[in-house]
Amino acid sequence: MNNSREKFSGRISLIAAFAGSAIGLGNIWRFPYMVGENGGAAFIVVYILCSLLVALPVFFTESLLGRNSGKGLVSTMNTFFGGKTRKVMSVIILTAPILITSFYSVVGGWSLDFFVRACMGEFCDISKEEAVQFFGKYSTSVTEPIISHFLFLLVSIAIVSRGIKKGIEKFNNITVPILFLLILLFIFYSSSLPGAQEGVKYLLKPDFGKITPGVLASAMGQSFFSLSLGVGTVMVYSSYMKKSENILEAGSYTVFFDTCFAILASFAIIPAVFSAGIELNAGPSLVFETLPYIFTSFKTVSPFLSYVIPVIFFLSILGAAITSEISLLEVIVDYLVEEKGLSRKKASVICFTVCLLIGIVCSLSFGPLSGIQIAGKNIFGFFDSISSNLFMILCSLIFALLVGWKMDRKTVWNELTNEGRGKKSVKIYPVLYFWIRYIVPVMLVIIFITNIFN
Ligand code: PFF
Repeated sequence: MNNSREKFSGRISLIAAFAGSAIGLGNIWRFPYMVGENGGAAFIVVYILCSLLVALPVFFTESLLGRNSGKGLVSTMNTFFGGKTRKVMSVIILTAPILITSFYSVVGGWSLDFFVRACMGEFCDISKEEAVQFFGKYSTSVTEPIISHFLFLLVSIAIVSRGIKKGIEKFNNITVPILFLLILLFIFYSSSLPGAQEGVKYLLKPDFGKITPGVLASAMGQSFFSLSLGVGTVMVYSSYMKKSENILEAGSYTVFFDTCFAILASFAIIPAVFSAGIELNAGPSLVFETLPYIFTSFKTVSPFLSYVIPVIFFLSILGAAITSEISLLEVIVDYLVEEKGLSRKKASVICFTVCLLIGIVCSLSFGPLSGIQIAGKNIFGFFDSISSNLFMILCSLIFALLVGWKMDRKTVWNELTNEGRGKKSVKIYPVLYFWIRYIVPVMLVIIFITNIFN
């Protein structure tokens, strides 16, 4: 085992890192929409069940693999596979982090740009048509989104290049609590808007009639994306985890904070959308079209708020995007350091260049390259879809099978129960081990096949 590897200073830093990776754009632009479309509180209940029954056990397996090997994604996998399989496996497991890092930083760049615009007061008074037109023109243009993508990636890689304690840990420890504070402020103000109470009522009223098998599959997909599973981020962060930490506890806290943030984001966004009397949508248009326009309605409360609220909102999106992006970059940088023998600085430069170039292609796929369609999607949408629907699930399945069927049982026990010292872990271990061996793989195969046909 590689003992020279840095370690997170303590439990708080570890959980802030996991939560920082989990809390991201997905919590803000997808979750609230899914809740709004799929039965309010009923969806939240289904989502929590998916997270607890499938995603959380997968988190444990990925975390266990990383902590046990004390190595990153590819090096850990290399301990299980040899020959040609090893090469194929490296390609499969590195595809998702490289693709997600690249397209995620394009959106991160948009957030950075919109944050700067909010600071300059551009969203204080904007009509719905202006907001839609502005984003349409912005996202399809060439220069501005690419410059923002470059800057966002530069800030993120600068944090990663400083290492675990001085870079990633420091940034997450400060940013994650601030994100909660910002979203609480946003809830406070959005619920004070006229008509917002209808949105709150809607969120609290469960409509189980809307829960169909399709909704169940989307809830599952969202919980995997939101918890950053199957990409190696959990594995790499766990390799920086001290042996004294408890994997079950760290995973449970991560699910708790990530789900809380997603629910808080729904209570911030849906009442505001109700108050403005417009349709709820998902993805970029929610964050970059609908919300800037909604901010204008704060003017009726106070002109000061119509300036401050967009600043707070885009700052929280930017912070959430960076904490997720650095976890993705760390997977690639760590791979280059560990497997290719590069220094952290050199690895950071290479990682930055590769992600910058792929990201530029993703960014252009909204404009000049929009004619290139793969499976009915532009390049950005295609990368998003194959990484979230196929690679993340496939890699999670590989992790679960390795822990359930290939790893020595004693090692699994030692990792999950802290060699029998974790009293609660010891109690639930038999059920958990059975669950990881039999139930989780079956569920993942079902999700994978469903996603292929979709
Ligand atoms: N969990 C992040 C979000 O919800 O936006 C996205 C993400 C980050 C996915 C890191 C995968 C990953 F490895």
